[in-house]
This record gives sequence, C-alpha cells and structure tokens, in this order.
Amino acid sequence: MVYVTRRETFAAAHRLFIPEKSDSENEKIFGKCSNPNWHGHNYTLEVVVRGKPEVETGFVIDIKVLKEIIREHVINKVDHKNLNIETDFMKGVIPTSENITMAIWNQLKDKIPSGELYSVKLYETENNYFEYKGE
Ligand code: NI
Repeated sequence: MVYVTRRETFAAAHRLFIPEKSDSENEKIFGKCSNPNWHGHNYTLEVVVRGKPEVETGFVIDIKVLKEIIREHVINKVDHKNLNIETDFMKGVIPTSENITMAIWNQLKDKIPSGELYSVKLYETENNYFEYKGE
C-alpha cells in the first residue's frame, strides 16, 4: 500500500456553544471558542488516500484530481466562511474540530475515484490535531 497525502489550508470562523445554555455556561465548557461574537482559526487539512499504484500510470490517485475533489467538496465550502452559518455540511452540528473532521470525511468518502480514503486530519493549531479514519 502507498499512502498519498494532500495538504490544504483554510481560514474559517466559528462559535462553539450549546444553544440551551447561557453564555457563561458555554464559556465554562468551550472557553474562548464560545465567544458570542465569533473568532477564527487557520486550519490545516491533510487527506490521505491509500492503495496500490496502477500499473499503467504508477498513480494510486492522480494528486491533481485529489486536490480538485478536496477544493470542490470541502475548501470552497469552508474557506473564509462561518462554519456555524454558511457551511451546508456542518448544519446542526457544533463545529468542534472533532465534528469538522468527521464531516469532511463524510464529504469525501464516496468521491475518491481510485484508492480509498484512509484518513482525514485537521490541525486547529500547531499543537492540536484531530484525525478520523471512518470508525
Ligand atoms: Ni475556536
């Protein structure tokens, strides 16, 4: 197996909160990320596809194609957007990095034309990252 990784970056705004709770209760749970006036993160996304290289091309997946799939189904929907309001695939979900990572997996899982989606990794900061492998 060869593991092929494409890295993309995006900037997005969000607010972590449980609507039924007060602002101060939300702040206890989510800290700064519950600021009612929003805030942003510069996210880094790594998508890994694995498979055996095709004999004719030597590719697991054409990385240009992988790039376009990620741009169309993820980056265009999140970059410079408010994840709580504008991103269709995050509707009704608290935009924690855990939930964003799983939602991006679900966006991509049926769209990979060769090889198979292996993992989605999301860096919220340099020190914090979240990874989902579909189970
Ligand atoms: Ni935040």
